[in-house]
Amino acid sequence: MFAAKTMNHTDKTEFYRELCAQLSGLLADENDAIANAANTSALIFQMVPDLNWAGFYFLYSEDELVVGPFQGKPACVRIAVGSGVCGTAVAQGTSILVEDVHAFPGHIACDAASRSELVVPLFHEGRILGVLDLDSPLPGRFDSIDQFGMEKLAAIYVAACNWDD
Ligand code: SME
Repeated sequence: MFAAKTMNHTDKTEFYRELCAQLSGLLADENDAIANAANTSALIFQMVPDLNWAGFYFLYSEDELVVGPFQGKPACVRIAVGSGVCGTAVAQGTSILVEDVHAFPGHIACDAASRSELVVPLFHEGRILGVLDLDSPLPGRFDSIDQFGMEKLAAIYVAACNWDD
């Protein structure tokens, strides 16, 4: 049984270092992408403060994301590449940190409580497999330390999975 350790929430860099170590341990013996996405979203949602949604969208075709495992309220199932924060992150090939979702043109509101958002692409061998999406009910919840930390978590997730099929 996996037991999440209590973590240091005052030093965010240290917090993400510990969370990365926990995720590496959690995914060590499994390479199924869906199973690992389920456990990754559960770990993040349990351990990272002030989130109302944490989960994955996968790019099964060139032009559309489809929701994957997540924690939070039921979400929009399909998002066109180029639409919303998630589709824009795919189109631009970069992480997107949104301090105020109401100020982001085309933001897709799955949970009306969401006020800020961080979307991190999943990169594998030069292509994008999907995104890791985090929503918070607090405006300005995410900063560059969160972005760097979530990019590391996304990289650990991608590296743990088998993408050959
Ligand atoms: N807000 C996202 C949609 C996904 S939900 O937040 C879970 C977007 O604008 O792409």
